[in-house]
Amino acid sequence: ALVPVVLAGGSGTRFWPRSRKSRAKQVLPLSGSGKTMIQETVARLRPLAQIEDFLVITNDLLSATIKGQLPEVPEDRILCEPFARNTAPACALAAMIVERTAPNTILGIFPSDHVVANDARFAEVIRSGMQIAAAGENIVVLGAPPTRPETGYGYIQEGAPADFADASIAARSVQRFTEKPQIDRAIEFVADGNYSWNAGIFLWSARTLANAIREHRPAMAAPLERIAAAFGTPEFEAVFAAEFEAIENISIDYAVLEPRSAKGAAGHIYCLPADFGWNDLGSWNALHEHAMQKGGSKGHANVVESKSMLHMDAFGNYVFAPGLTVALLGVSDLVVVQTDDALLITTRAHSQEVGRVVSELSHSG
Ligand code: GDD
Ligand code: MG
Repeated sequence: ALVPVVLAGGSGTRFWPRSRKSRAKQVLPLSGSGKTMIQETVARLRPLAQIEDFLVITNDLLSATIKGQLPEVPEDRILCEPFARNTAPACALAAMIVERTAPNTILGIFPSDHVVANDARFAEVIRSGMQIAAAGENIVVLGAPPTRPETGYGYIQEGAPADFADASIAARSVQRFTEKPQIDRAIEFVADGNYSWNAGIFLWSARTLANAIREHRPAMAAPLERIAAAFGTPEFEAVFAAEFEAIENISIDYAVLEPRSAKGAAGHIYCLPADFGWNDLGSWNALHEHAMQKGGSKGHANVVESKSMLHMDAFGNYVFAPGLTVALLGVSDLVVVQTDDALLITTRAHSQEVGRVVSELSHSG
C-alpha cells in the first residue's frame, strides 16, 4: 500500500497575474485540463492508493481552498501547518504519523504543482519505486534529464545499475545528491552526462524516513514525534501549534538527501527515470512546453485559452484570455495573460523573470 504525501504549502510568484499569495500555483487550473494542479496530482495518484490513505499537507492560507478542491479526501487527512517550515518537517511528520501504526508502509512524497504528460507511465515508475523502497532501508528518487544549468533544482549523480528483481524498471544507485548548486557547478553537472534533475518525488518506508530524520536532523525528531502522537486526538491542533514553531525551516533535500548521499553506497539511494513527461512548471514558458508535449504538437504552435481565436503569421505564442476572442497577427513567442485586474505582456524568453514584476509591484504598493 502507498501513502501519498501531497505537499501543498508552497507559494509561487512566477505565474503572476494568475497566482497570488492565496492562489498559489497548486490551486490554479494552469494546465488547461480544467482541473487545478493539486486535483491533477491527486487524480494521477488515485490508481496507486486508497483515498483515505492520502495525506495532504498545506497551510492556513490555502487549506480552505484545498479542502474545497479535494472533497473526496477525508478532512482529517488534510493537515494544516501553523507555520511555514519548508518540506523536511512536513515529510517527517507524515512519516512519524504512519510509523506509529504501520512502519513498513511506503510513503511517496509528491509536490502538488508539477505536471505529468503520461499518467500511465508515471504509475508504472511509482510502482517500481515502491518495490525498491520496500526491499530495504532504501530511498528512491526520480531523475529527469537536465536540459539547462538550472540552479533551482537538485542534481542526482547516477552510479552503477542496481538490480531489484521485483522492480520492472531498471534503477541506478545514486552517488551524490546536490541541492541547488551554484551556477558553475550546475554547468559542470549538465556537461558531465551522469547527472539528472531531481523531480522532487521520493519513495521510502515510513520507518526509513523517520529514522533518517532522527539521524540527520535529531533536533526536530522529538517535537515531531509529539505532534504525531497527538494525531487523531482532540489535542492535535494545539500540540501542532505549540511544537511546530521552534522546528527548523529546511527542505527535505538539504536535511536528508544531501547528508545521506555523502555516505556513498551505504546511503542506499536509488534513482528511477522520471520519463513520464515531467515538468515542474516554473514559468509561463514551461506551461507552453507542457501543452506542446501533451498535445503532441511540435515546434512553434500557439497555445491559446480563450473563447475563440484566430491566428495569422503568428507562432509560438502563449495566451490566456478566457471569455475573449483573441486574434494574433504577425507576432511570435509572446506571453499574454489576462485576469480581472491585470494584464501581463512579455515574451516566452522573459517568463522566468515575472517574479521581478511581482516584487516591484509589492514595493510600490
Ligand atoms: N506542506 C508544505 N509546507 N509544503 C511545502 C512547503 C511547506 O513549508 N514548502 C514547499 N512546499 C511544497 C510546494 O508547494 C511544492 O509542491 C513542494 O513542496 C516542493 O517545494 P518547492 O518550494 O517547490 O521546492 P523547489 O522547487 O525549490 O525544489 C524541490 O523541487 C525541485 C523540482 O521541482 C527540490 O526537491 C529540488 O531538488 C527539485 O529539483
Ligand atoms: Mg518547486
